[in-house]
Amino acid sequence: MKICKTISETQDYVAKLRKSGKSIGFVPTMGALHAGHISLLKTASLNNDVVASSIFVNPIQFNKKEDLQKYPRTLEDDIRKLEEIECDLLFNPDVDEMYPEPVLDRYNFGNLDKVMEGRHRPGHFNGVAVVVRKLFEIVKPDRAYFGMKDYQQLKIIQAMVSKLGLPVQIIPCPTMREPDGLAMSSRNVRLTADERKIAPVIFRVLNGVRDRMGQHDIAEVEKWAIHQLNNYDELEVEYLEIVNTGTLSKPNSLPEPNSLIVCAAVNLGKVRLIDNLVIN
Ligand code: PAF
Repeated sequence: MKICKTISETQDYVAKLRKSGKSIGFVPTMGALHAGHISLLKTASLNNDVVASSIFVNPIQFNKKEDLQKYPRTLEDDIRKLEEIECDLLFNPDVDEMYPEPVLDRYNFGNLDKVMEGRHRPGHFNGVAVVVRKLFEIVKPDRAYFGMKDYQQLKIIQAMVSKLGLPVQIIPCPTMREPDGLAMSSRNVRLTADERKIAPVIFRVLNGVRDRMGQHDIAEVEKWAIHQLNNYDELEVEYLEIVNTGTLSKPNSLPEPNSLIVCAAVNLGKVRLIDNLVIN
């Protein structure tokens, strides 16, 4: 695997690949790779000649300093995993390489970046959009792969690509789960053993939401779900909302013609977990 620390080295390598007509599948990450990332990389390798990944803990998408500092960093282990699955290129820049100057770009994605994560993590999606656009410009992938766990992020990246006419196809991939239902996330390693036992409750409650839809009012179902989660002393719901899959806006009435998704962010000890489930 070719490991590039600089933008120019990556661009040179990518230019050679593109000249020889190779298609590039790209999986951007912040490292601490788990089976969810590996599944994205494997999907990328099925549909492209070359697989590229990036590991960059993007400081401008963290709205809490502590969260950035505590983000797991496991570079050696990550490189080993990437080599094992025969990833061709890893772009692993330093912060100064990505942001030699203060970032001034400001995106507006309408409702998409105002609700849920956007409301609770101001500036987060702007930071994601800035870094993903820059990564796309450097790696020039034909296709880029994103997990559905970060559903709102996926919608924002799709909107950015469409708004700016970026020449990359965004491929959504299903959330990978542990056998007990917990969505795989780099943050899971920060859960204590006791917290880890409680964490699958989130997915169980999301399933409960799905079962209740159609028979109850949406607001009632949301209330029920928040209550179920807050019943656990260790859990603190930041938000749990049932929204349209396309616009992320609140459905007006039932029956709703568009499909719905329930999205939640829940604090468990010092770890913030997000998850979602498409309802119909
Ligand atoms: O989902 C992530 O890991 C990050 O938000 C991403 C897309 C790599 C941008 O930093």
